[in-house]
Amino acid sequence: MYAIISDLHSNIEALDAVLADIDSHAVDAIYCLGDVIGYGPDPIAVLERVKRCAFILMGNHEEGLMFFAEDFNPRARAALEWTKAQIMDPGLPKDLQHEIWQMIDAMPRSERRAEAIFVHGSLRNETREYVMPGDIGDRRKMNEIFALMDRGVCFFGHTHIPGVWTESSRYLSPVELGGEYVVPAEKVVINVGSVGQPRDGDNRACYALVDGDKVTFRRVAYDYEATMRKIMRVPELSDTLAARLKIGR
Ligand SMILES: [Fe+2]
Repeated sequence: MYAIISDLHSNIEALDAVLADIDSHAVDAIYCLGDVIGYGPDPIAVLERVKRCAFILMGNHEEGLMFFAEDFNPRARAALEWTKAQIMDPGLPKDLQHEIWQMIDAMPRSERRAEAIFVHGSLRNETREYVMPGDIGDRRKMNEIFALMDRGVCFFGHTHIPGVWTESSRYLSPVELGGEYVVPAEKVVINVGSVGQPRDGDNRACYALVDGDKVTFRRVAYDYEATMRKIMRVPELSDTLAARLKIGR
């Protein structure tokens, strides 16, 4: 059994709650689909914590940190600039800084394993394309994505909205599924939701456990008020980034 986490966004309270939940199951490996940093108040602690993952994909926030963030909205860009300043802080040990830059630089944009394919955004644009529930009606977009799959399942993140998109044009939310899904014979893409900034109206941290063909969407309550307080103490982090943690949007 393995766990898939994504979009942690420098939220250590959410990540620690999720890791505790993972550790209460017989999990062999943790896969991370990117956006470890950005938005939240604890980039260094979260980066250190994810070292235990079997792989960490590059999200658009890591890509923004390393290369370009011109397409980011002002709030996201300000948070990214602040994050960069935290990593470059002269008070941080040099070897830790070096390790962090190496870790981010080494992040692949996709991972193809026997069990599934993994990306941050979509197979058409691995770091930046959004696949939303409404896209299930966009046959061309979905067909192009499914055509890039050489096996049955692709796990992704990026939108912070969990669910299943099937090749037969159905979108299924975890609520509709009762939190569990058995992967069928047809191709499917599965969003594992967001650990650190859920946007599906449920403020609990979200991740997935995969055991053979069975995918379980886990929701874990965490002390979001502590994270909100930290965000509000940092002038460079917009208060709206705190407010959205409470409502899960
Ligand atoms: Fe994200």
